[in-house]
Amino acid sequence: MADYLIAPSILSADFARLGEEVDAVLQAGADVVHFDVMDNHFVPNLTIGPMVCKALRDYGIKAPIDVHLMVQPVDRMIDDFAAAGASIITFHPEASTHIDRSLQQIKAAGCQAGLVFNPATPLHYLDYVMDKLDVILLMSVNPGFGGQSFIPSTLAKLKQVRQRIDASGRDIRLEIDGGVKVDNIAEIAAAGADMFVAGSAIFNQPDYAAVIAAMRNELAK
Ligand code: DX5
Ligand code: ZN
Repeated sequence: MADYLIAPSILSADFARLGEEVDAVLQAGADVVHFDVMDNHFVPNLTIGPMVCKALRDYGIKAPIDVHLMVQPVDRMIDDFAAAGASIITFHPEASTHIDRSLQQIKAAGCQAGLVFNPATPLHYLDYVMDKLDVILLMSVNPGFGGQSFIPSTLAKLKQVRQRIDASGRDIRLEIDGGVKVDNIAEIAAAGADMFVAGSAIFNQPDYAAVIAAMRNELAK
């Protein structure tokens, strides 16, 4: 399996120049734009909403936009983000009262759908919805902030989810988010991830292309 996606988290970009930053990271070889939505309620931080997603589309960004909802309630944001140009919408099961309905709402809005698991959130939420998932996102930090360290127990959790995806026979992306760096991406891929969010590792370096190339080099080993 060599089909790896690199998804820079724009949480660590320069928000005063967001369009240019997203353009630059895509020119540098990124595949997907990871868009972190925080509400100062489900997580202790406040970021950006559908207006900013639409602004990126209006600016000319064509790449898939992966909207990671860290908001509660979830449902009222889904149609707004779909209309704003989201490609993928993921949410945390604890934040939705009716998980199946939220997933259906995302699909009905024409987007790919995914569930996000915090480091201590159990995987049983997968039990009855595998057929509705395009993406499973494991958090390898507690959500809310960029620049945190990868929590090692996530590797064992990735292996469990990889087994469940393979057993399902379905084409489901296994995304990892938090503390992904050049020096741990190979180990994370070996545990089963095939979509890698990286914020500070990319945006805190001057040469985005060099970081992304180094990540791809690690993935090719
Ligand atoms: C954290 C966000 C992440 C964050 C990752 O709540 O979901 O997407 O931006 O940042 P790094 O890669 O710096 O850990
Ligand atoms: Zn995220």
